[in-house]
Amino acid sequence: MISKEDADTLKQLSAEEGLKLISSKFPEGVVFSTSLGQEDQVITDIIFRNGLPIKVFTLDTGRLFYEHYELLSQNNSRYKIQTEVYFPEASDVEKYVNEKGINAFYHSIENRKECCYIRKVKPLNRALNGAKIWITGLRSEQSENRENMPVIEWDEDRKLFKYNPLIHWSYQNVLDYLDQNKVQELSLHKKGFISIGCQPCTRAIVEGENPRAGRWWWENSHKECGLHSH
Ligand code: ADX
Ligand code: SF4
Repeated sequence: MISKEDADTLKQLSAEEGLKLISSKFPEGVVFSTSLGQEDQVITDIIFRNGLPIKVFTLDTGRLFYEHYELLSQNNSRYKIQTEVYFPEASDVEKYVNEKGINAFYHSIENRKECCYIRKVKPLNRALNGAKIWITGLRSEQSENRENMPVIEWDEDRKLFKYNPLIHWSYQNVLDYLDQNKVQELSLHKKGFISIGCQPCTRAIVEGENPRAGRWWWENSHKECGLHSH
């Protein structure tokens, strides 16, 4: 259990100090979900470089970019630690695709959310099973929905603590860390992509656009897939 004092301490600590503290207090039961985006590459680097006892996993939706696999493989070679990969249930995907269509997510928000549920949320819940602390790379600047998210919070639905060590980092802080520590990133970032999800649901953005404008760009929605909101 995270006490009020622990939570207050975490707010004062750097991401690296916080990750060290959390993993020493809970040597089992701390997990980190990486989408392989820039924020997640920062956290991955901190965890693997320090040999912290934290399970690092990614959700392979089956619709990722080729570049995701390239980076996953580079990470595995660089750190010599495997990132665990979780897949959706084959029967869920088969049913959805055969009944609704291979790209049915473009047809309605309901279809899109169902696809995200099958390909991301369900596998996430499986990956989090038994975890006490779930680490994410969320930043408050990313969207209105994330603006008021705290460094650490109780997730009542999943019955665990969610720790967001980069919540108050700016995008420039992320870029500086990657540069200073020579951390590799998705090659898509050099091609105008900032926030990156599945390939059919992500496009590059142009200058002046919100970083998440390229996610589910055809929708006028809150642009969340259910991992971090309902
Ligand atoms: S999303 O909800 O819109 O897809 P976003 O791409 O901003 O999320 O990433 C926010 C955080 O959600 C990441 O830092 C990571 O912890 C988690 N996340 C998102 N996508 C994945 C994925 N495919 N695999 C594992 N974690 C993910
Ligand atoms: Fe499906 Fe698109 Fe959601 Fe990926 S982002 S799970 S392809 S709807």
